[in-house]
Amino acid sequence: MASGHGNIPEEVIESVLSRHDIVDTVGKVVHLTKRGKYLWGLCPFHSESTPSFTVTPDRGVFHCFGCGMGGNAIKFRMEIEGLSFPEAVKIMAEESDIPVPEGAGGIQSAHNPEIDRLLQAYEWSAKFYHYLLKNTEHGKAAMDYLRSRKFSDKMIDQFQIGFAPDRWDTLLQFLERRNFDLAEMERGGLLSARSEGKGYIDRFRGRIIFPIANRAGKVVAFAGRILGEGQPKYINSPESKLFNKSRILYNLHQSKASIRKTRQIVLFEGYGDVISAWESGVHNGVATMGTSLTENHASMIKALADEVVIAYDGDRAGQAAAMKTLSMLEAVDLRVKVAVLPGGMDPDEFVSEYGGERFREQIIESAVSTVKFKLIYLKKNHILLEEDGKIAYVKEALQVIASLHSSTEREVYLKEIASELELSYDSLKQDCNLLRASMQKNIPEGDNNDKRWNNGRHKKGRIQARALLPAYHSAERSLLSLMFQDGDAATYVNEHLGEDFNIDDHAAIAAYLYAYYAQGKQPDISRFLSSLQDDRLEKVAASISMMESPPDWSPQVLDDYIREVRKYPVQRMMDKKREEMIEAEKAGDFLRAAQIASEIIALDRQ
Ligand code: CTP
Ligand code: MN
Repeated sequence: MASGHGNIPEEVIESVLSRHDIVDTVGKVVHLTKRGKYLWGLCPFHSESTPSFTVTPDRGVFHCFGCGMGGNAIKFRMEIEGLSFPEAVKIMAEESDIPVPEGAGGIQSAHNPEIDRLLQAYEWSAKFYHYLLKNTEHGKAAMDYLRSRKFSDKMIDQFQIGFAPDRWDTLLQFLERRNFDLAEMERGGLLSARSEGKGYIDRFRGRIIFPIANRAGKVVAFAGRILGEGQPKYINSPESKLFNKSRILYNLHQSKASIRKTRQIVLFEGYGDVISAWESGVHNGVATMGTSLTENHASMIKALADEVVIAYDGDRAGQAAAMKTLSMLEAVDLRVKVAVLPGGMDPDEFVSEYGGERFREQIIESAVSTVKFKLIYLKKNHILLEEDGKIAYVKEALQVIASLHSSTEREVYLKEIASELELSYDSLKQDCNLLRASMQKNIPEGDNNDKRWNNGRHKKGRIQARALLPAYHSAERSLLSLMFQDGDAATYVNEHLGEDFNIDDHAAIAAYLYAYYAQGKQPDISRFLSSLQDDRLEKVAASISMMESPPDWSPQVLDDYIREVRKYPVQRMMDKKREEMIEAEKAGDFLRAAQIASEIIALDRQ
């Protein structure tokens, strides 16, 4: 059987699975409740309001009846945190002190030489640019600029900031001398193809270089900032095999230790913000790169922390972005606070103006609740000195407050608004209660929260579809389910049916399963899933492993299913023959029709 897990020893995978309980792993992200033999929760991989996501503790697997996602604990972490298989295994091993042999399953898949070469090129280029900044005449202006922005030498070193001189061939020559394949370097985003003729030029010219590392600390991209004013402000590496913006958080490799301790993440917009916050003692800061926060990011954060402080720029754009980000983070049940920066400043500017201590105390530690932030945000859009503005603001504010579950909280905010706008608390409260009543009426049955989910129709459709599976299909699933639980059942099916499953995926899973048991392994669905190496098969197998099946098997039970499976191709053949027979009759070829009829009878006897 394929065991192409890079070169991670199987014992490591086994220990990881045995130490990372599926319920604990999933439970960090999904709130699970026990119902029957499964634990149920809202699926983190698609939007839903009624739980169709299940975990089966004794089998070590999860499965969503809604979207079909499923697998073991390793698979869950891969999907939630955007990790490759070796990355997930390494991180999970590290978490439970399981030793991983040096060089095993090299992060970013050791078996892809192009990726290895690109990682090497990025590592050396980052060092080269850093060297040029600090030690050469080329870097002088950039160094002066960084100093004027109060970047300390220590931070320049720690974040490996560099400088790409304003020439066409600085990095080109550097890479050429080291025998890198230039076309490959262009694909990886270090060089650009010349617009005319052949050859390549440096992609980054006359720019400060911020290396962007993945969570393992390997540089996978550069962001190049112009010196001073000008457009475009940043040039970034393109997305590549190494670099996927929507799955990378800047500085996560350095901040993850602090995040693990505090279970809190501070989310910034810019590189400079992360760096100056770090110097101020905020060591759990990360930033998205120019893009807004994605659902991927939200899931990654959810797996790492319980609370997020959004510390975006104080300008209009930053605050609008914070509104969007906070609802995405709240949608995955994170506690969220928002740091409010005065006068349109960004965190970096605040630190250089007022110092790190005030930044920590007055900005990060004084971050406000999301409700408070929404109220501040809404208020900015209205002119409160005018009656119309006041009324419009109160209307919007009441929407926010009415959706709060705690009456104490509602009271606090209503009193605040009452005194601020010189309105009567009682009438505000009354309006708020009316609004609550009408909101509750609009919540469709089954919805247990106030988020923007679908109404669960999705789920019912799927489950019904499954109930209506043709008999041979259900029989194949039942067989596999029994085979997962018992090696002897698998042997029996192997002898009597082999790989003659009608559905290709089932045949493939059976083949893997025969091989699995042939190696003398014990039934263990979670372990088996890791050997599949195929996303689709993994999902299908996980879904089958969730089936209710009798605790014991007997040859009769298996025979019944096998007969059902074998019947299908025969039935199909009979259907075809029947059609042919009708055709023959229509054509007046009765001799042929009679011949086919006897064939059908023979088939039927089978
Ligand atoms: N960004 C980008 N491309 C741009 C502008 C911005 O990729 N043309 C991204 C960068 O990740 C940047 C972040 O958006 O760090 C925030 O943008 P901005 O506040 O304009 O940049 P700062 O990094 O804060 O720049 P500075 O403080 O140096 O002016
Ligand atoms: Mn900024």
